[in-house]
Amino acid sequence: MEKEKIILTGDRPTGKLHIGHYVGSLRRRVELQNSGLYKKIFVFEADGQALTDNIDNPEKVRQNVIEVALDYLAVGLDPSKSTIFIQSQIPELCELTFYYMDLVTVSRLQRNPTVKTEIQMRNFETSIPVGFFTYPISQAADITAFKATTVPVGEDQEPMLEQAREIVRRFNYIYGETLVEPEILLPDNAACLRLPGTDGKAKMSKSLGNCIYLSDSADEVEKKVRSMYTDPTHIKVSDPGKLEGNTVFTYLDAFCRPEHFGRYLPDYANLDELKAHYTRGGLGDVKVKKFLAAIMQEELAPIRERRKAYEKDIPAIYDMLKKGCEVAREAAAQTLDEVRRAMKINYFDDEALIAEQAKRFGQE
Ligand code: TRP
Repeated sequence: MEKEKIILTGDRPTGKLHIGHYVGSLRRRVELQNSGLYKKIFVFEADGQALTDNIDNPEKVRQNVIEVALDYLAVGLDPSKSTIFIQSQIPELCELTFYYMDLVTVSRLQRNPTVKTEIQMRNFETSIPVGFFTYPISQAADITAFKATTVPVGEDQEPMLEQAREIVRRFNYIYGETLVEPEILLPDNAACLRLPGTDGKAKMSKSLGNCIYLSDSADEVEKKVRSMYTDPTHIKVSDPGKLEGNTVFTYLDAFCRPEHFGRYLPDYANLDELKAHYTRGGLGDVKVKKFLAAIMQEELAPIRERRKAYEKDIPAIYDMLKKGCEVAREAAAQTLDEVRRAMKINYFDDEALIAEQAKRFGQE
């Protein structure tokens, strides 16, 4: 059977990627890439989107483009299977955005829950940059330019996908079937939907200093796991412990597989048994944290090593990105061609139009 599905997803290059990105999306992307089930895979750095709220700090974006590229390669994204590129290098995306802007109302954007929260988080109040406010439209351009059917992202991106789908439906309704309606692909494990920070706060964020980065050393990972938030009422080992809101157990939900018990904690057969013991009392945090650290080190060590190897030839990474941009640009240009035709703004390659107008003005 011919493969039909196309994946597109990306990240804003505003910092190194952390394990929240990893369990929420990166790990899945690599699986999807290696499944061989997809016709094309596009992974990109949304530097233009990153600039919408960092316009006075372009250096931050510039520095992080290479960091994110290294993180991508380190987790196993493979440029021979996935096209890795940079948003700002694809001018076609701006043109699509320009046309899509007329398909969306201001009040619809104001109702976008992600935009709403982000405006609050950034204290923009009434001085919201227009580009920031309209980034869901540019995100719809990112997705549709590549005819993506499948967008693997975190839960916070759901409103973006909904907005993109609306734009597609409205475009196709007005101009005829042209664009492809994308579907979101969420992580299948609840713990991965939004991995909390090591301090138990809802989200990992650089400014809160509660992240474990993919590029952290083994020592850093060890230290961060050891100081992780657990159950503050679980003081003595014999005390019964709570699982809810207990970061160590949320991380275990995201990282632990049955085979880990045989390797690192053979007294238990699986996570349910470990949880039962913790809830009952008699299991100390230190033991659970040691187990978690072992699992995380096992998963992160190869990523860290691959990153080190890629760091040895930085010009080659830029070269890889440049080639990715060329491939991506070709795909976007094809879609833009179709869009221009559908919108009847392809004046010069429309011979019928020219002939018809000539005739209208009395020329044969
Ligand atoms: N908004 C996404 C984020 O903050 C990044 C992004 C931009 C994206 N365009 C996209 C993700 C298109 C998926 C598809 O992480």
